[in-house]
Amino acid sequence: MTAGISRITDSEVERIRADFPILATRTSKGKPLVYLDSAATSQKPRAVIDALSRYYESYNANIHRGVYEIAERATEAFEGARARIASFLNAEREEIIFTRNATEAINLVCHSWALTNVRAGDAILVTRLEHHSNIVPWQLLAEKTGAELRFLELDGNGRVVLDDLETKLQGVKLVAIAHASNMLGTIVPLQQVIPAAHAAGALVLVDGAQAAPHFPVDVKALDVDFYAVSGHKMLGPTGIGTLYGKRSLLEAMPPFLAGGDMIRRVTYEHTTFNELPWKFEAGTSDIAGAIGLGAAVDYLQGLGMPWVREHEIALTSYALERLADVPHLSLYGPKRAEERGGVIAFTLGDAHPHDIASILDSEGVCIRAGHHCTMPLHDLLGLTATARASFYIYNTYADVDALVEALEKAARIFKL
Ligand SMILES: Cc1ncc(COP(=O)(O)O)c(C=O)c1O
Repeated sequence: MTAGISRITDSEVERIRADFPILATRTSKGKPLVYLDSAATSQKPRAVIDALSRYYESYNANIHRGVYEIAERATEAFEGARARIASFLNAEREEIIFTRNATEAINLVCHSWALTNVRAGDAILVTRLEHHSNIVPWQLLAEKTGAELRFLELDGNGRVVLDDLETKLQGVKLVAIAHASNMLGTIVPLQQVIPAAHAAGALVLVDGAQAAPHFPVDVKALDVDFYAVSGHKMLGPTGIGTLYGKRSLLEAMPPFLAGGDMIRRVTYEHTTFNELPWKFEAGTSDIAGAIGLGAAVDYLQGLGMPWVREHEIALTSYALERLADVPHLSLYGPKRAEERGGVIAFTLGDAHPHDIASILDSEGVCIRAGHHCTMPLHDLLGLTATARASFYIYNTYADVDALVEALEKAARIFKL
C-alpha cells in the first residue's frame, strides 16, 4: 500500500455490502458476484429499492396537480428529493432540473442555452477524453450553427493539458468538460479551468457523471454554470438524472421540451411558461426515479462523501499496485490514485478485451469491455477497445484480488 493512503477497514465495507441485496447473490456458475462495473451503472442499496416500492405500493399518484392525500404525498416526496439533491451539490432547489440521465442534461444545455447563444465563428471547447454524450451534441450544434468544436489535448498520462488554455479559450462561448473520465479515470482540475473560462467570457458545463457519485461536489465553490449528474451511477435508479444550472442562466433560457407541467397558461395562440425548475420538466417526470435518487443521496450522505473518496483512493491505489505486477498488462491514465477516479482501463497483451471479460465472467468478476462510449479517445490512443474495472463504495480489497487472480488465469489461457 502506497505511503500516506489510509486503509479502509474490511468491516466498514462489509457493513455497506450488507445493504446491497445483489452482492449476496451468486452467478449461475455458483461464483460470488464480484461487481467491478460501477462506472457503467452502480448497484442499488435496499434503501433505494424500498423507496421505489414504497412509492408504488402506498402513494403512487401523479404530482403537482392532485389535491388528494396520496397525490400530495407524492409531490412532497418528489420535491423533497429535489431539495436533497440540491443540498448534496450545494445548489438552490430551483436550480436542480430532473432529466432522464446525464446525457439529457447535457442535451438540455445544448438545445436551450447553446442554440440561442452560439453563432457561426464562436467556438465550443471540449477535451479529448470526453464521453460521446459530451462530444456528439456539440458536433451537431457545430454543424447547425457553423461554430467550431475545439479540443484540449492530453499528456502521456491521460491528464488534460492546460498550458495553452488561455489561447484555446479565444472566441469560446462554452467549455463542456468532464469532471472525471470514464475511461482514463483522470480527474480534471476544474478549479483551474472554470476561472480561466469565465475570464475569457465563456460559460462552463461540467459532465459530472463520473464525479458526483464519487467525491464531494460543491457547485457554488466551483462557480460552475451547468453541472450534469447521472442518477444510476450514484446508487439511484435508471431513468433519472439532474442538471444544475445557475438560476440567472436558467431563467433566461427558453424551454427545452414542451408540453404539460412546464406551462403557466396556455391559450390556442400562446403559452407562458412555468417558473423554475418546472419550466424544464415537460410531461410526467420519473417520479419514482426521483424519489429513489433522493434515497440514494441520503445513503451517500450517511456515509459522507469524503469517506467515499477516501475509500476509492485506497482501493484504486491498491488495484494499481497489484495490476502493475500482472505480466503483459498495460494500464491507461494517471499513475497516482489521487489524480483519478476509481476507473481502471487496461489491455492484456494482444488478447481481445471481450475475451478477457468473458474469462473473468466465468470467475464471477464483472468488468466492461469495449470503447466505453469513448471511441475517439480509443482512436487517439491507438486502441480498438480496452477492458475496464471500476470500483465503488461496496468493493473490497478481496474484489481487487479476485480481479488480479482472474486476469492471471486469462493470461495463462492466452499463453502470454
Ligand atoms: C463521463 C460520462 N458522461 C456521461 C455519461 C452518460 O451518462 P448517462 O447514462 O446518465 O446518460 C457517462 C456514462 O457512462 C459517463 O461515464
